[in-house]
Amino acid sequence: MRKKIGVFDAFSETMEQFGKNGCLLVVGEQGNPMAIGWGTIGIIWGKPVFIVLVRPSRYSFGLIENFPQFSVNVPAESLKKEVTLCGTRSGRDIDKVEKCNFTLEKGKMISVPYIKECSIHYECKIIHKNNVINTALDIDIVKEYYPEGDLHTVYFGEIVGVYREEV
Ligand SMILES: Cc1cc2nc3c(=O)[nH]c(=O)nc-3n(C[C@H](O)[C@H](O)[C@H](O)COP(=O)(O)O)c2cc1C
Repeated sequence: MRKKIGVFDAFSETMEQFGKNGCLLVVGEQGNPMAIGWGTIGIIWGKPVFIVLVRPSRYSFGLIENFPQFSVNVPAESLKKEVTLCGTRSGRDIDKVEKCNFTLEKGKMISVPYIKECSIHYECKIIHKNNVINTALDIDIVKEYYPEGDLHTVYFGEIVGVYREEV
């Protein structure tokens, strides 16, 4: 059973996963999963916020631009192969949910689904977005991460629910 937990209750597991294989961002009402290696959680404007970064070249970009909600799904180590697939193949070309044998469940507070096979998930509504501005960014970071442009858009999602699978 999926139980609602406190906003920061799964903080360390979530950050740890970003440092390992990454988490899975799901966007769009149909649910397209994409691997994300960067993200953080905190308080901004007095609200709990999950920040994620998406490059315009991603299929997910069009989906998140059209529908301002997302779920962040925290996979166990055993889903490493699936995370890699979601980070190397595009939803433009294949159905990643089917390829990974994922089950999408209806979001509890949002219309974007979450991945049942990930035991922790966050539901978020976008309250702000911003573009990374290369002229305002450390030059070494620009060289390392943006040699071809494709600058991320940064999405600030208010966390409206965090859930953990409990037996
Ligand atoms: C571990 C890992 C982390 C990634 N992190 C991000 C990220 O934070 N932002 C991003 O735009 N792309 C990131 N990517 C690349 C996308 O996941 C990849 O381009 C994916 O195929 C996009 O899927 P889509 O076209 O279905 O949206 C990452 C890939 C991997 C393998």
